[in-house]
Amino acid sequence: MPGWNFALFPERASTHAGRVDAVYFFLVAICTLVTIGVFVMITYFAVRYRASKNRQAVQIEGSTVLEITWSVIPLMIFMWFFIWGAVVYWDGARAPADSEEVYVVAKQWMWKIQHMNGVREINELHVPVGRDIVTTMVSQDVIHSFYVPAFRVKADVLPGRYTHVWFHATKPGTYHLFCAEYCGTMHSGMIGSVIVMEPAQYQAWLAGGAAQGSLAQNGQALFQQLGCNTCHRADSLARAPNLQGVYGRPIKLADGRTVIADDSYVRESILNPTAKVVAGFQPIMPNFASQLNEEGVLALVAYVKSLAQQTTGEPVANRPVPNQAPPAGKKVE
Ligand code: CUA
Repeated sequence: MPGWNFALFPERASTHAGRVDAVYFFLVAICTLVTIGVFVMITYFAVRYRASKNRQAVQIEGSTVLEITWSVIPLMIFMWFFIWGAVVYWDGARAPADSEEVYVVAKQWMWKIQHMNGVREINELHVPVGRDIVTTMVSQDVIHSFYVPAFRVKADVLPGRYTHVWFHATKPGTYHLFCAEYCGTMHSGMIGSVIVMEPAQYQAWLAGGAAQGSLAQNGQALFQQLGCNTCHRADSLARAPNLQGVYGRPIKLADGRTVIADDSYVRESILNPTAKVVAGFQPIMPNFASQLNEEGVLALVAYVKSLAQQTTGEPVANRPVPNQAPPAGKKVE
């Protein structure tokens, strides 16, 4: 048929897409088979036992074989749904360890993207083909949802908590990015594109992004601007933990608990410092919630993360500020 374009499914453009579709088709196939079975039997019995023939059905009572059969077969089918679905879900929920990170801030009504090298974009996400990409996402206002149908990934983007999706794009191209959670008047306009590029092309794009220092460098500049380095230092004047080599490690808290210093812990410690105070320190850190937006917090998280590899060397306080530091006191937009 000319101009026939009847697509029931979005393109499959990630490694995850085919696996999600397979589970889905399996569910549809089983449901279809059962539905056909039910309707065939209804028709058969309706005809066979119709009133004019006056046939009597034979009642079967207490058949162990029958009862085990109709319990075990559905159990196996449902367990197969569960196990297969859980494996696909689990693989989709946990990013491979060396994934490339991208930070996403959602707000009414746009997607703000920050790459690790400092390149920023709005409503567009450029990624290389054939790489594992993981997003760290947070909302500046209400709940949004990051949805890329071609990759079969979706996750709510929440105020106050980091969430993630990961994907491995398999085909260059431009794909829809939707907000899939009603978030106010312009919700339907909160759309963007994921642009999957060949690696060389992507590197060229990234280099041309006119980034003002990497995200971690921006975080370092903020760290000094806000005076964090006056307390978080390696020498004897430290009134707060030295942050070198902290990220990703277990941290002993003053109340005896142990937490892992991940993105969420670092974020909470900036915005609500007294929530989880490190053992051996006083809860004296001021709250920075009024001085930072989510992008600033993400830059600080990236900076703390960059310190993970530096367990020795200069104390945090003595490192030079990068040239492109924004003017002191200015809120980073
Ligand atoms: Cu954001 Cu809907």
